[in-house]
Amino acid sequence: MHKLFFSEFRTVEWRDGIVAMVDQNLLPWEFRIVEFRDYREVAKAIKNMTVRGAPAIGATAALGLALAAYHSKATTIEELMEELRRAYEILKSTRPTAVNLFWALDRIMQVAHRTRGGVNEVKKAVVEEALRILEEDIKVNKKLGEIGSELINDGDTILTHCNAGALATVGYGTALGIVRAAVEQGKRVRVIATETRPKLQGARLTVFELIKDGIEVTLITDNMVGYCMYKGMIDKVIVGADRVLADGHVINKIGTYTIAVLASRHEVPFYVAAPTSSFDLSLTIDQVVIEERDPREVTHIRGVPITIEGVKVFNPAFDITPPELVTAIVTEKAIIKPPYDKNIPKVVRP
Ligand code: MRU
Repeated sequence: MHKLFFSEFRTVEWRDGIVAMVDQNLLPWEFRIVEFRDYREVAKAIKNMTVRGAPAIGATAALGLALAAYHSKATTIEELMEELRRAYEILKSTRPTAVNLFWALDRIMQVAHRTRGGVNEVKKAVVEEALRILEEDIKVNKKLGEIGSELINDGDTILTHCNAGALATVGYGTALGIVRAAVEQGKRVRVIATETRPKLQGARLTVFELIKDGIEVTLITDNMVGYCMYKGMIDKVIVGADRVLADGHVINKIGTYTIAVLASRHEVPFYVAAPTSSFDLSLTIDQVVIEERDPREVTHIRGVPITIEGVKVFNPAFDITPPELVTAIVTEKAIIKPPYDKNIPKVVRP
C-alpha cells in the first residue's frame, strides 16, 4: 500500500498562541506557511481565501476565537465575553455560504458561556474546544472516506470539482478522502479534476494534492465535462458541499449544478461527500445566502486581464443542486439515500 503525504498533512494548526496555515493562494507554485497572532488577520485570511473549503473555514474560525481568548487582557468574565463576542461577529462576517463557519463559531461560544470559573478557565476551555474541532475534523473525514470507499470499484474514474481535499479540511479531505481511502485499500482509481473557474481550486489545489500523493489525475476545463461524459470517460462524480439542507439541496462551488445535470443526462452517479457539520437543518433554500465575490476574479487570472476593463461581471461563488440530481450523500455516519427529507434528519440529528 503506498504512503500518502496528504494522509498526515494539516492545512491549519495551533502553535501556542499562533495560528499557522498553508497559504492556498500561492499553491501550487509556492508552499508557504503563514502565521497569525490576531483574530482579525485570521478573518482576513478566510475572506481572501488564504484558507478555504467549508470544514477548513470552520476550523480556522474556531482558532480565530481561540486567539482572541488566548491573547485577551480581560480581567473579568464580562470583559472577556465582550471581546469574544466582537471576535465572533468579525469572524462570522467573512464568508456567508459555508455553514461550518457558523457551526464552529457557535460551538465555541456555547462552551465559553457554559464554562464555570474565572477568566483563565474560560480562555482554556475556548482553546481546548477549538483544538477538539480540529482533531474531530480529521477523524470524521477518515471515517467518511472509509464509508464512501464502498461506492468505489477497482478501476473507477472519478470526476471531482473544486477542491474537497485535505486542503479544504484540517486534513485528509471529504470527496478526496473517499478517493484516498479507496487507494489505501489498494483500489486503482483515476481522478478527472475540473479546473474550477474563477479561482482554479481544481487546477491549483486538487491537482497538487493528487500528484503529491501519486494518485493519477487528469485536468480538464469546466466546459469539458459534458464531452467526457458523452465519451463514457467518467464512472462517478464525487463533490464536496458548503451546505446541505434538510431536504437534500446541496450548495457547493459554482459549476457543481451543471455537472449534476450532465451526470443525470448520462446516468453517471452523482455523490456528495459532506460531514454532518456541513448540514443545515434550519434554513430553506430561499434563505441561503450565495456569496458573490470580487469581479476581478472573473476579469483577471493571476493579475492578468482576460477581458475588456470595466465589463459588467456576475461572480457567484456557489450554486444549488436540487435533491433529485443527487444519487447519495456520504457522511461520517452513513451513506444517505433518497428520500432525503426523511433520511437526512434521521442520520444527522438522530
Ligand atoms: O470557495 P471555496 O474554495 O471555499 O469553495 C470550496 C468548495 O466549494 C468545496 O467543494 C466545499 O467547501 C467542500 S470542501 C470539503
